[in-house]
Amino acid sequence: MPAGSVRFQSLATSADVAAATAEHILAAAEQAVAARGRFLLVLAGGRTPIMAYTLLVGKPAQWDRWSIFFGDERCLPPDHPERNSVAARQAFLDQVPIPPKNIYPMSAEQGPVAAALSYQRTLSGSATGKSAAVRLPFDLVLLGMGEDGHTASLFPGRPVPDGPLVIPVLDAPKPPPKRVSLTPKALSAARAMLVLVTGADKAAALAAWRAGADSPVARVAASGAALVLMDRAAEGAAPP
Ligand code: 6PG
Repeated sequence: MPAGSVRFQSLATSADVAAATAEHILAAAEQAVAARGRFLLVLAGGRTPIMAYTLLVGKPAQWDRWSIFFGDERCLPPDHPERNSVAARQAFLDQVPIPPKNIYPMSAEQGPVAAALSYQRTLSGSATGKSAAVRLPFDLVLLGMGEDGHTASLFPGRPVPDGPLVIPVLDAPKPPPKRVSLTPKALSAARAMLVLVTGADKAAALAAWRAGADSPVARVAASGAALVLMDRAAEGAAPP
């Protein structure tokens, strides 16, 4: 998969990646609210984005215009510490005045299939109970990358159907095995996409990607003309 449509920006440390990510989010929000009166943000799961989320707390923003979605979720109880929604709430969402009705967690506790169907309805605007009809595209999609080149819960060697926006994942190699994930079709329905890659453990997958290897993250990033924010450790450079 050519990485040509994707831009790679190197920053010294993971803290610099977090700071740049927070700046991009706030700038995208200001632009979206000015243009369309709302900001639709898809949060990445995993550990990488957490520092960036914490940097948003206390910043000036029109929080009541923000709507929050998730790129994927683990099928665990709603308050389980390994849930992406729990990590985002603890780091960010519980500390900013985004209206609760504008936060759309995946109901992954229902199990992969039911949760995927439910989120598909949410994204296709046919869900009931939420006041604001959700209309794609998203304004900004945040993604991480695993050591095997996965992103969201889209893993290598697992075919993804073209039609749906959300799919169940039953056999993820990264525990837990049961997950829910946005598809490339949903993730690429975005005005902007940031992929965050930090740490030496990601260096091999990142180097393969930049050399043109195919992977879920390469496909999704190319479809979204993503900007990749990487630190020197992931880039394989000597520490600063
Ligand atoms: C998940 C994430 C996953 C994550 C990568 C990187 O639910 O696990 O969505 O795609 O972004 O595995 O994870 P780290 O940021 O923890 O390295």
